[in-house]
Amino acid sequence: MNNLISIADLSKQNILDILALAKQFKNGLKKRSLEGKVIASCFFEASTRTRLSFESAILKLGGGVIGFADSDSTSHGAKGESLVDTLKVINGYADALIIRHPLDGAARLAQSVCSIPVINAGDGANQHPSQTLLDLFSIQDSQNKIENISIGLLGDLKHGRTIHSLVEAAKFFNIQLYFIAPKELRMNENKLFQLKTSGIQYSFHNSVDEVIHKLDCLYIIRIQKERFDESISFDKYKLNLKSLQNVKSNFKILSPLPRLEELPVEIDATPYAYYFQQAQNGLYIRQALLDMILGDKLN
Ligand code: CP
Repeated sequence: MNNLISIADLSKQNILDILALAKQFKNGLKKRSLEGKVIASCFFEASTRTRLSFESAILKLGGGVIGFADSDSTSHGAKGESLVDTLKVINGYADALIIRHPLDGAARLAQSVCSIPVINAGDGANQHPSQTLLDLFSIQDSQNKIENISIGLLGDLKHGRTIHSLVEAAKFFNIQLYFIAPKELRMNENKLFQLKTSGIQYSFHNSVDEVIHKLDCLYIIRIQKERFDESISFDKYKLNLKSLQNVKSNFKILSPLPRLEELPVEIDATPYAYYFQQAQNGLYIRQALLDMILGDKLN
């Protein structure tokens, strides 16, 4: 593996290898495989978890970080330099590029103009593959298995890139999907067609109460208000404590976070809340990814 642009670029074995290495990092593995190397961490769009866990992973592996978290402070954001020129310049300063950008396809564009490895940290509403790897790790960690799991996907399925990556991985693990979203925020037809042709089992539901008793995991994604203008009521799709009365004993709630009103804070105290552990798992997955993409080749 030389880059991570899309989950579609990975095989099942690639994914299992990354999860296995991440487990070793979670269990205390220490490596300095990025020593002497510089990684560009370029966030053209806001982030807390992805940027800081990638940067922590780089430092723990002995590497150095350059980059920015505010594109307005760059010549691209403030002076109108093209994205391609910006990427070509960064290519000369670093041994790898981690990029988040609001445009779908920005990471693939970066790969096409850079000779260094590129890792997609989220491009528009398209893909967030390192998030999917940490989601799969979290499913495995919380369920003690990854095959034959039932997952409810609640929230903005149209604009949520974490969901778009996660459903692509479902085909490897026979994951049954239950979509719970207002009709305006359902996954688009192209994506659904892709799932159908991959043999993924999915169904649509109008409330979480309709299906919650069947689920091993409920994955909640916030309404991505920054990606559309219309006002959409989400009131009947919010999770509440009453909905948790009939869940399975192994049931866990996952979320890429940040959360808004769809995942109220009173859920945090229940035994079903797994989302902060999930965020921490991002560190181990990103250590594994960086080590696999860069470690062997650079030392
Ligand atoms: N899950 C996630 O991508 O969070 P950030 O936007 O804070 O990186």
